[in-house]
Amino acid sequence: MERVITYGTYDLLHYGHIHLLRRARALGDYLVVALSTDEFNKVEKNKICYFSYEQRKLLLESIRYVDLVVPETCWEQKITDIKKYEITTFTMGDDWVGKFDFLQEHGCKVEYLPRTPEISSTQIKHDFGENNN
Ligand code: CTP
Repeated sequence: MERVITYGTYDLLHYGHIHLLRRARALGDYLVVALSTDEFNKVEKNKICYFSYEQRKLLLESIRYVDLVVPETCWEQKITDIKKYEITTFTMGDDWVGKFDFLQEHGCKVEYLPRTPEISSTQIKHDFGENNN
């Protein structure tokens, strides 16, 4: 069984996220999404989410391409997660290209998927007049 993992915030879920998750799931048979917690977003990514972790998790769990949602609480957990969830492919959007190539040394493939143009959570917040990304 090919098991895939991806990481992200997934605030204000949009079609760019869905395209990413659909292609991530197609890389294998089982998709784990490591979802950034509110604390991790705030402290490490400088992002204040509109939806809470539990709300973002609920949305992700309702998507047919997502098999499991787990918390992302620190940058360093990736190597542990690969072992824990028996991951064979790590994938992210290509805004992260090259950043996680080192995970290949831990026995999994690394794939960067093209981002969907023009849409982002930050853009949505901006368009609705909130500048608290
Ligand atoms: N993603 C994508 N296409 C987009 C937006 C996001 O493929 N238009 C991907 C990202 O590359 C990442 C995942 O979706 O792998 C989650 O991204 P996230 O940062 O949560 O979403 P963004 O909309 O980019 O949010 P922000 O504007 O806060 O960075």
